[in-house]
Amino acid sequence: MTSLYVHVPFCTVRCGYCDFNTYTLNRAGISYDDYLTALAHELERAATTFGSGTVLDTVFCGGGTPTLLGAGLGQVLELIRQHFTLAPDAEVSTEANPETLTPALLQVLRGAGYNRISIGMQSANPQVLHTLGRVHTPGRAVAAVQEAKAAGFDNINLDLIYGTPGESLGEWLDSLGAALETQPTHLSAYALTLAPHTPLARRIARGSTPAITEDDLADKYLAAEALLASAGFSNYEVSNWALPARECRHNLAYWLGANWWGAGPGAHSHRADTRWWNVRNPRRWADLLAAGKSPSAGVETLNAAAQATEQVMLRLRLASGLPLQLLPASTADLVAGYVSDNLARVNGDSLVLTPTGRLLADRISLELVSN
Ligand SMILES: C[S@@+](CC[C@H](N)C(=O)[O-])C[C@H]1O[C@@H](n2cnc3c(N)ncnc32)[C@H](O)[C@@H]1O
Ligand code: SF4
Repeated sequence: MTSLYVHVPFCTVRCGYCDFNTYTLNRAGISYDDYLTALAHELERAATTFGSGTVLDTVFCGGGTPTLLGAGLGQVLELIRQHFTLAPDAEVSTEANPETLTPALLQVLRGAGYNRISIGMQSANPQVLHTLGRVHTPGRAVAAVQEAKAAGFDNINLDLIYGTPGESLGEWLDSLGAALETQPTHLSAYALTLAPHTPLARRIARGSTPAITEDDLADKYLAAEALLASAGFSNYEVSNWALPARECRHNLAYWLGANWWGAGPGAHSHRADTRWWNVRNPRRWADLLAAGKSPSAGVETLNAAAQATEQVMLRLRLASGLPLQLLPASTADLVAGYVSDNLARVNGDSLVLTPTGRLLADRISLELVSN
């Protein structure tokens, strides 16, 4: 199974909470055309490494804001097709900011071959959107879903963020309700996490914005799980819910250890026991490729122990659970403790976290791998 990720490093504005490798156009150092030229070079390199004729099962354009490329996002898929074969049932996703979507662009994207769209809604509450520094109104994301459906998309995700300072539990449930009303097939709900240098983290550190609390995040996660489960969505990964058979196959490929190429500035790639990552700066990335050089900034080979650790951390986040055979016998007491504390259950040959356990997924993985 092979996947391709394409990182598009442009945003109209940088949201105050975001730590992704993205730039406004005046800071990126490259134009959209420069980006497409460099991407063509990187895809050629990828096809040489993975073997031309490699069949891609999933493609995911993320960012950043891929939809800022406009019709150029259709060209991205054409470039991919020049170097790879898309499986007949390939999942081809793009992320999108609500304010960048128009009915015309959605039709171009659907016509180009995208069959899944992931829209950054974040919240249905104007005050929460304001605190997050989002530039769209709550209604814009809802309208964008209807426009995507009219253009022929039937696989639609909405991204939501919970735990924004000042957001009440009721407001969070209202946001979930508004998202559900649009009848998406998939919902991602992320706990707001802040890198210290982000503008929102600085405002919290100064005391001008209230702090985020673990208790608030836990209450909102459990409330989300209860509401979404009652609406027929399964929490197949800690932050992701889907209707039956609508899980994001691309993200599952990451979590299950498939091979993928990440193209674009700062993108990460993985093949067998090797991972590598590109330089983050878009200009430097484009210059290296223009000079016929690899844009890779580093490479790492994982030994068997490191691979096992990674598997534990990823698999424990999935509803399918962690195969017990991946755990050494020395963890038996820990596992029994999680089960008796209702943090996990044993389902067949796998250890599966309960909703309360999923709140502690990172801590539990750490305990299991350091035992
Ligand atoms: C690349 S963005 C999606 C597309 C688009 N750029 C947007 O924001 O609408 C991926 C998602 O990551 C989530 N995200 C980004 N930074 C986050 C943070 N600091 N804490 C929690 N979620 C975050 C948001 O839900 C966002 O929609
Ligand atoms: S959340 Fe999305 S739109 Fe906002 S800065 Fe990050 S990538 Fe860009």
